[in-house]
Amino acid sequence: MKNIVILISGGGSNMAAIVRAAQSEQWPARIAAVISNKADAGGLAFAEANGIPTAVVPSKEFASREEFDATLRSVIDMYEPDLVVLAGFMRILTAPFVEHYAGRMLNIHPSLLPHFPGLHTHRQALEAGHDRHGATVHIVTAELDHGPVLGQAEVDVLPGDTEDTLAARVLQQEHILYPRVIRSFIEHGAPAQQ
Ligand code: GAR
Repeated sequence: MKNIVILISGGGSNMAAIVRAAQSEQWPARIAAVISNKADAGGLAFAEANGIPTAVVPSKEFASREEFDATLRSVIDMYEPDLVVLAGFMRILTAPFVEHYAGRMLNIHPSLLPHFPGLHTHRQALEAGHDRHGATVHIVTAELDHGPVLGQAEVDVLPGDTEDTLAARVLQQEHILYPRVIRSFIEHGAPAQQ
């Protein structure tokens, strides 16, 4: 049984999709913990209701990124993770933190990388006039939103789309993409070409 630790900052709908898939598909893995940097993250209640240990490491109470990351790392490692999954975890991570989880930390980003790293990806896709948009799962490396891509899901950008309508359609695809990629990663590891 592999241990997966999921980090969230907000609603946690991707986390919930992963938890549901792990249960219904009987993955050879358990969600060992859900950890948030915000005490009011909506996803914590879902995790608790599903019997998953939760923890909060409140980023706003730390004086520096380094101190926060060091504490977060010690909390994560209590759960002996084989895989750390960033699911709407809205933090820039320090290089030592990323290095510690090298090759075993995944992120989902709401754009078709390499397009639109960073924030406001749906707005950026609309402003750029792209007719395809989507989400990317990648291995986390030191450069933000730039690690090796493990999978992508695409949606059409429709006439009349707003940031909200586009975000909602991408999020639906994220809920299919992320569990699929994680399951494959657990069962087969990273693809050979990565
Ligand atoms: C998702 O769209 C995810 O791709 C995005 O935040 C949302 C979280 O939703 N992540 C990032 O922007 C990371 N830079 P959720 O909390 O409902 O899973």
